Amino acid sequence: MQTETLTVEDTSAETRKRRVLSGIQPSGDLHLGNYLGAIKRWVERQYEKENYFCIVDLHAITLPHDPEALRQRTRGVAALYIASGLDPDHCPIFIQSHVTAHAEACWLAGCVTPLGWLERMTQYKDKAGRSDSSERISTGLLAYPVLMACDILLYSADEVPVGEDQKQHVELSRDIAQRFNHMFGETFVLPEPMIPEIGARVMGFDDPSRKMSKSYEHIRGHLVKMVDEPKEIERTIKRAVTDSGNEIVFSEDPAKAGVNNLLGIYQVITGKTPERVEADFANARGYGDLKSAVAEVVIEELRPIRERYNEIMDDVSELDRILADGADRAGAVANAKLREMKERMGFVLPGGGS
Ligand code: AMP
Ligand code: TRP
Repeated sequence: MQTETLTVEDTSAETRKRRVLSGIQPSGDLHLGNYLGAIKRWVERQYEKENYFCIVDLHAITLPHDPEALRQRTRGVAALYIASGLDPDHCPIFIQSHVTAHAEACWLAGCVTPLGWLERMTQYKDKAGRSDSSERISTGLLAYPVLMACDILLYSADEVPVGEDQKQHVELSRDIAQRFNHMFGETFVLPEPMIPEIGARVMGFDDPSRKMSKSYEHIRGHLVKMVDEPKEIERTIKRAVTDSGNEIVFSEDPAKAGVNNLLGIYQVITGKTPERVEADFANARGYGDLKSAVAEVVIEELRPIRERYNEIMDDVSELDRILADGADRAGAVANAKLREMKERMGFVLPGGGS
């Protein structure tokens, strides 16, 4: 099965820095959950690793979408990555559709992925379950995790920093990698999901039993957007649903989920231990004090990001230059791996390769 002329990349863990790849869909405005569960951590760890960060626009069309909004948001997400502190000189930042290897690899990997694996994905079941007819669910929604697996596997990423909800998809990527390696020879590194201990699940301010999500952005008081003005942030957090008690402590009790969520947000932003966080509120006069303190740290955390975001969006030509450079650097890695996949699978390569 294997040929003499394989161009195999050196993927041994000892000879290179740990590789990280992650991405976010430009399917809505980014919110505090995206920031605390994903981007903040990418920024903090970026210089320890070799990173690739993409804006996964191909994933954003798996549900019905508006073309003009997609165009706007794709640049908007890129601008937020940079405004949050990702250094494009160190981490290629790119638009997924600019590196066409992702879509092509998705076809190849899809042909070795059993249908049952995809039908079992929780996110698919949730999203497809919301529709009353399979006539309204795209094939892309089902294939979504195969594309995500290719995003990861093409870069030989060891680590995929995501929120809790994406763990299952990263595990599926491992399964696909393993199956491919077994069928065609060692090709892919097996990636691991990196889930933050805190901040992995920021809950909705309107309903703390539900994860903060772009899908509910139309519901008033549900989320804080990364680019919200301070007044808006304050209004949303002041209105956050809590309980009728007055105890400001971390708790697994579902009735205290609102307070727990507020404390968790405060903890991730301040970097304090849970004991210090609780001590900060030992003399509080009620949930009003907690909400004011949380609003303040959120506002101060997001303020410089919003300001920088506005500057970046004022000159999209510079942003487009950064994205083109990111796509060149990412493409070099992804195209080499795609070629390897094709060689292993028995394709005749253009120009007479094996
Ligand atoms: P999405 O908005 O689904 O494209 O998610 C982009 C990234 O943000 C993924 O790593 C998610 O796991 C993470 N994320 C989304 N919502 C939340 C949330 N409410 N809490 C923590 N992380 C989140
Ligand atoms: N499915 C991810 C989400 O909704 C987005 C995503 C696509 C992704 N490709 C990825 C995340 C690769 C990490 C790595 O959040």
